[in-house]
Amino acid sequence: MPILKIARMGHPVLLRRADPVADPTAPEIARLVADMIETLEDIGGRGLAAPQVHFSQRVVIFHMGEGRGAVPEVLINPVIEPLAEEMIPGWEGCLSVPGLRGVVPRFRHIRYRAVDLDGRSIDREASDMHARVVQHECDHLDGVLYPQRMDDLRLLMFETEAKHHVNGIVLPEDID
Ligand code: NI
Repeated sequence: MPILKIARMGHPVLLRRADPVADPTAPEIARLVADMIETLEDIGGRGLAAPQVHFSQRVVIFHMGEGRGAVPEVLINPVIEPLAEEMIPGWEGCLSVPGLRGVVPRFRHIRYRAVDLDGRSIDREASDMHARVVQHECDHLDGVLYPQRMDDLRLLMFETEAKHHVNGIVLPEDID
């Protein structure tokens, strides 16, 4: 299985709305997901969306574990529904925007629905970091990168400088 090349900000595939997956159980989708998992394990990120590896399909993977070896959750054709209006700021980064971090407001509580590789329905509620990761990854399917969600671009910075900005702001956490 190959490790896939990551598209970086500026590549048009990151700006377009990804296509729905017609058959989540198709072998080519299983192959894509296997390659995405291997790529994510190699890079060490928290999540990855198919457009980031140049496949404009509505597929994302992510894990909420710490360190490598965590088994990612696979979401095909995901749909997000905010469960409350409350939004909270938090640090994000992205494999497609390397070297930068930014503070992004996200819905604190969401419900998300999708299907998995076996075509089974997924219907979950998520809060805080889990909700943030799902919103970040699903934004990739709509051509949105996290800086577009920021309301204060002074808080977009190189990760090596972010250490200067921890006061009053939650500590950086890796979201890719
Ligand atoms: Ni990202």
